[in-house]
Amino acid sequence: MALDAGPDTAPSLAEEVGLTFAEVGGMDDVKKLLHRMIILPFVRPELYAKYNRSAGGGVLLYGPPGCGKTLLARAIAGECGLPFFSVGIDDVVSPFQGQAELNVSEIFAQARDLRPAVVFIDEIDAIGYARQRAQGEMGRRLTNALLQELDGVGRSTEGLLVLAASNAPWDVDSALLRPGRFDRRVFVPPPDEAAREAILDVRLRGVETSGVDLRTLARATELFTGADLRATVERALDEVIETVLDTGEEIPVGQQHLTAALAQVTPSALDWLARARDYVEFSNASGQWADVESYLGQRAVRRRLTGR
Ligand SMILES: Nc1ncnc2c1ncn2[C@@H]1O[C@H](COP(=O)(O)OP(=O)(O)OP(=O)(O)O)[C@@H](O)[C@H]1O
Ligand SMILES: [Mg+2]
Repeated sequence: MALDAGPDTAPSLAEEVGLTFAEVGGMDDVKKLLHRMIILPFVRPELYAKYNRSAGGGVLLYGPPGCGKTLLARAIAGECGLPFFSVGIDDVVSPFQGQAELNVSEIFAQARDLRPAVVFIDEIDAIGYARQRAQGEMGRRLTNALLQELDGVGRSTEGLLVLAASNAPWDVDSALLRPGRFDRRVFVPPPDEAAREAILDVRLRGVETSGVDLRTLARATELFTGADLRATVERALDEVIETVLDTGEEIPVGQQHLTAALAQVTPSALDWLARARDYVEFSNASGQWADVESYLGQRAVRRRLTGR
């Protein structure tokens, strides 16, 4: 080893998150739930200990893509002022025998060294897929490595907050969902009106606008995801640029550009919700998707889904 190599450690995977709930627009119900379920037990462990209520185990955030799961996970770390370790499935899946488990244990080891800390496992359903595919062997070892880490979370590893996210919670390896593991699940629905307004605001920041009424646009974009809203704004910007190129006149972005653009974007949460409805109908016997079910039952959602 070179003399000047310093301590023999892997590069730190920790991230400092500046983001808090204040930067997450709307989503008041989800924020409140996360506050009760995750943040309070974490910042007031003595209260939970007094009532003999263990705060261990992981929390699974699930819902349609582009609706704020990753954003919320980061904001939870930011709210608690904790270092954030993000485990993308691509980070851990490795073609080298045994490497995937090593990566998982390296991340957890680093998080424990720095604890209290948040470990976030994104797209956790992909591990289940890896298990089914040709790399079945690796998927199984990866799941086992993860289970081992998770089972430690309630005990020696106190001070680790383990969050996971999935668009397809029904595909998550059921071993990962058992009590003490990701047994607490939070549905992150499509952004509500206030969240849509916040997302549009962020997307239009730094762009010259004239007469743009975000509230009206937010109202007209029910079931649009963050990604759909981004696509809407991008379409409107393209239209404006096109006009500038045609006329040579540099115009600001107006409400009409955005209204025209949103008519061309299909809210992508519709697909997800239709799929979710099937799962809820056929496999909600244990009530595990009750939150999705009640969301689907909302009048506005039902109307969009069934056209009635
Ligand atoms: N409530 C919100 N306030 C502000 N921005 C939001 C909100 N919800 C989503 N966004 C923005 O929308 C985009 C998608 O959000 P995010 O990446 O958190 O979604 P996700 O649920 O993790 O999606 P995926 O399942 O594809 O990973 C991001 O740019 C995010 O900043
Ligand atoms: Mg995400």
